[in-house]
Amino acid sequence: MPVKNRFADLHEDITAWRRDIHAHPELLFDTVRTAGVVADKLKEFGVDTVETGVAQNGVVGVIKGKNGGAGRVIGLRADMDALPILENTGVDYASGTPGVMHACGHDGHTAMLLGAAKYLAETRNFDGTVVVMFQPAEEGGGGGRVMVEEGVLERHGVDEVYGMHNWPGMPVGSFSIRPGPFFAAADLLEITVTGLGGHAAKPHMTIDTTVVASHIVLALQSIVSRNLNPVKQAVVSITSFETSSTAFNVIPNAVTLKGTVRTFDPEVQDLCEDNIRRIAENTAAAFGATVEVDYQRNYPATVNAETETDYAIAAAKRVSGDCAYAPLVMGGEDFSFMLNERPGAYILVGNGDTADVHNPDYNFDDEAIPAGCSYWAELVEMRLPVSG
Ligand code: NI
Repeated sequence: MPVKNRFADLHEDITAWRRDIHAHPELLFDTVRTAGVVADKLKEFGVDTVETGVAQNGVVGVIKGKNGGAGRVIGLRADMDALPILENTGVDYASGTPGVMHACGHDGHTAMLLGAAKYLAETRNFDGTVVVMFQPAEEGGGGGRVMVEEGVLERHGVDEVYGMHNWPGMPVGSFSIRPGPFFAAADLLEITVTGLGGHAAKPHMTIDTTVVASHIVLALQSIVSRNLNPVKQAVVSITSFETSSTAFNVIPNAVTLKGTVRTFDPEVQDLCEDNIRRIAENTAAAFGATVEVDYQRNYPATVNAETETDYAIAAAKRVSGDCAYAPLVMGGEDFSFMLNERPGAYILVGNGDTADVHNPDYNFDDEAIPAGCSYWAELVEMRLPVSG
């Protein structure tokens, strides 16, 4: 079965919504205008309840089915925030805010879920309730976590949750998914090495933190290669090396390292953290320096429930005839906070042969809209069939 006809009709409208959001990108929790657009549209569509100010600038809409909404409650989630990137696409609806850009396609996610909400409010061809959740701050900030903490799932009695992300490199409108761990846990690491600064020509009078920190960076490479069971996955990346000296002739008193750790398995996550602490502390001690390790568990792994993944596959197949088995993704995703609370599934929809996400040349492909919207509609109508 191809895309639903209604979405072929609405394709132009939804594209216009998407491009309007694209032209007005907002960062993290500051999705004021976007949330306003979303709330106005949901009201215009006749959505039963529209909640604003959720997780600061998130929006939740409740759509009751033909039977008045009794029965199961399905949560559908989209993210609304942009990235701090200077857009380079040259499209005529490019960002009007220099240095802020919808470079991850959350404009498309928001527009597609709005399209689905319009269709579901028009047709109500389901028994039960659909809760559409538009969250801020996916790109850091953990807007999904705040939505959960503010009780969105409890308040609306949500039984299962579903999310979707566009994916460059997959044919436009195709789908892929995998059960179990899918996106990695994304942890934040900061290591501060303190020694004794001094004149660069008198190293014997110092404890040189650049040398100590360099040994730590190299030693950390052995966690994945030597400590981790080779059949498991992890990434330990140091991404920033900043010394307290800016001079040619001053040995810095301190060095701050920053990085990220990506894992799928809580035991591997523990292993990485424990080894990072051990290596940093003992390497620093070996050189007579001291070290402080700040390890923050940020976004948990995104883990798809088996049963709900099967529902997602069935809905995707109704739309595009097929659903591919997706590889693991080392990127993080804060829909994980919702998936930790409720069974559900996160699916990828193809964005074609575009630049990758988080790239200044990236753009969401509007040709994916009918497939994305149809997926939401099929999922709802399949999971909440009208009885009798
Ligand atoms: Ni994204």
